[in-house]
Amino acid sequence: MAPPQDRRATTPDDPTVAHAVSVRGAYKVFGRRPGEAVRRLAAGATRDEVRDLGSAAVIDASFDVRPGEIFVVMGLSGSGKSTLIRMLNGLLEPTAGTVEIGGRTVTKATPKEVREIRRTSVSMVFQHFALLPHRTVLENVAFGLEVNGVDKTTRLAKAREVIGLVGLDVWADAKPDELSGGMQQRVGIARALAAETDVLLMDEAFSALDPLIRREMQEQLVDLQQRLGKTIVFITHDLNEAMFLGDRIAVMRDGRIVQIGSPEDILTDPANDYVAQFVQDVDRARVLTASSVMEPARAAVPLTVGPRGALRTMRDLQTAAVFVTGRGRKLEGWVRDRHVMRQVKAGDTNLDAIVNTEYARVAPDTALTDLFELAVESPLPIAVVDDEERLLGVVPRVTLLAALGNVPTSTMPIPVLEPVTRISDSDMDSTLAATGETPIQTDPAVGDAGTTTTEGDLA
Ligand SMILES: Nc1ncnc2c1ncn2[C@@H]1O[C@H](COP(=O)(O)OP(=O)(O)OP(=O)(O)O)[C@@H](O)[C@H]1O
Ligand SMILES: [Mg+2]
Repeated sequence: MAPPQDRRATTPDDPTVAHAVSVRGAYKVFGRRPGEAVRRLAAGATRDEVRDLGSAAVIDASFDVRPGEIFVVMGLSGSGKSTLIRMLNGLLEPTAGTVEIGGRTVTKATPKEVREIRRTSVSMVFQHFALLPHRTVLENVAFGLEVNGVDKTTRLAKAREVIGLVGLDVWADAKPDELSGGMQQRVGIARALAAETDVLLMDEAFSALDPLIRREMQEQLVDLQQRLGKTIVFITHDLNEAMFLGDRIAVMRDGRIVQIGSPEDILTDPANDYVAQFVQDVDRARVLTASSVMEPARAAVPLTVGPRGALRTMRDLQTAAVFVTGRGRKLEGWVRDRHVMRQVKAGDTNLDAIVNTEYARVAPDTALTDLFELAVESPLPIAVVDDEERLLGVVPRVTLLAALGNVPTSTMPIPVLEPVTRISDSDMDSTLAATGETPIQTDPAVGDAGTTTTEGDLA
């Protein structure tokens, strides 16, 4: 039987949006009786069950790639990635189903039309591609244009431009064997860029590179993509690479796409055990962002509540500090219990005067990697704020650690990271009472014992 289809697996996009690439019900079966194999697979047979009819490389793939997106196809060796990507540019014809590139149906095109699509719409970078050894870097990059009959002045000018984009300007006149592996790979990318197609297909394009260069290439690709707005379909079996590059990731298993989603979707909500196992070892710190792990900032008060309101909130939430927000919910800073208490005792109502404006704050899309140093240095949870400095949530250290270990914070005993001296409840109560207001009602929903010994979280 086929694995149960999950809603996360193959939901096509909104049909009213124009897509760079659209694949519907695509199958590729190599072998003696592909048609019969497709019929059986469509009825739910697995790859193994149709083995005698042929080798089912891709089974019922449907997905859309949005313009300007980096769409990653990930899966173990033999899962069908290369076969899938080769159907996109007409190198392989699907046994069933359709492929559209930029609104043109590749699967119905004549060989001449397929060549035309490849020339104008989609170019490909392979893992191992042959650079012409006797030609310079510049000539290698211009080669595709030469084949397409572009005149010499135009093609060399174009080649020079893209060589600049991949940072190889000074190597333009060198021969390929003078270049390192990473540089050669960049020549390959430059060659694909020179074609000026909207869609770039990359099949394990960085797999042959050593880790440091590979990381650099990944960063450069994201940068190039942002500057040029290309649509990129990128194949890898390296999960960290997939997570770093992908706007969305399609996970393949035994010929089928088992999940399509953003890196965060796939990490936090894997469609099945296979995907869950796959993502176990991922470098979460590089993938998850502040907004995906932040918690609601309960310990935040508007400036207008004054010292008494702030003190009462700290008492109820059992924290030693609270964030303070001003006009338009803009985050102004934070106040500490001791200072607030002093104000309350002195009858001073100007909370503004004691607001501490030094604290760590980050944008919602900040990667966890970039939160560690802040978390170490800051006694407070890190504040997550939007463009207008409004407080969206907080990332306490516990949450940061829990996210890395993929442990839900709620089921984990909260470790004491740092002893925090809080003013005792009775001190707070007596101060509030002595300064003339009704005694505090303890709200049973908050301030239970479980939250008393955190790092002074404002969470
Ligand atoms: N020309 C072919 N003839 C027969 N079987 C093929 C052919 N090409 C691919 N296959 C089979 O299809 C399946 C998928 O192969 P494919 O190359 O697409 O996998 P892949 O995910 O790219 O793997 P890798 O990570 O190793 O590159 C494999 O079982 C392979 O043996
Ligand atoms: Mg492959």
